[in-house]
Amino acid sequence: MFRALIIFIVLGVINCAKYPSDLQKCKYGDMVCAIRVANEIMAKSAYGLPELGLPSTNPLVINRIGLNQEGDRPVVLNIEMKDCKMSGLPTTNFTTIQGFSDNIDKAKILLKYRQDYIQLFGPYKAKGKILVLPMNGDGEANITFTGVDSSIKMLTKKIVKNGKNYMQIDKLRLNFDVKRASLHFSNLFNGNAQLGDALNNFMNENWMDILNDLKPAMADSLGAVYKSLLNNMFSNIPYDEFFEK
Ligand SMILES: *[C@@H]1O[C@H](CO)[C@@H](O)[C@H](O)[C@H]1NC(C)=O
Ligand SMILES: *[C@@H]1O[C@H](CO)[C@@H](O)[C@H](O)[C@H]1NC(C)=O
Repeated sequence: MFRALIIFIVLGVINCAKYPSDLQKCKYGDMVCAIRVANEIMAKSAYGLPELGLPSTNPLVINRIGLNQEGDRPVVLNIEMKDCKMSGLPTTNFTTIQGFSDNIDKAKILLKYRQDYIQLFGPYKAKGKILVLPMNGDGEANITFTGVDSSIKMLTKKIVKNGKNYMQIDKLRLNFDVKRASLHFSNLFNGNAQLGDALNNFMNENWMDILNDLKPAMADSLGAVYKSLLNNMFSNIPYDEFFEK
């Protein structure tokens, strides 16, 4: 099996990066406090938090995102979405945040969270096969996951700039489960509505099997989105400014 992903988010240039004064600072290792603050950041990110280098996330616009899955598998898909709107991030509810200590060189961080929903919407191009059915199309895609439970494991690296320490997320692995996935692709098969409806119905009836096959590639794509957001935040503010001294 071969899989690859492409992802590209344009994040605004920050010229006023500073830990927001109306946001609480937590002590290292205080998980209850970290969860409260992280949930507040996610809720506020709907309107953007330029001080933290976070763009508006309701929706977050992703310039390119895709999956590229090849090989001898039941579901083989190449999907690319441009100017994809990802919504649902402000519903993030963290339940575990571990590993933010005063040591950031090769620190292992664990995050667990639930999102009410995550929706990817926008123009797509796709080519591949779903079980015995070929799939190709060029239109609008709507991939919606509801009841999303995820965990993220990260490995960090310490970056020193002008004598200050910054955290960089070096590796990130995401796993997720969903209560339900719904998929809709318009203009499949050059607009043949009968074939398109049939494939959309088939995908929604068999979403669990299809998602199982696509999950590793999807998890990589979603993980790349979060890595990019976190690195934008941590590369602009020295690490110790996030915490109470
Ligand atoms: C977040 O999840 C916890 C545990 O499931 C729950 O008690 C809490 O009400 C949730 N908060 C929000 C804002 O949904
Ligand atoms: C995408 O699909 C979901 C679930 O079917 C639906 O609730 C939502 O309105 C759709 N979004 C758009 C932009 O069409």
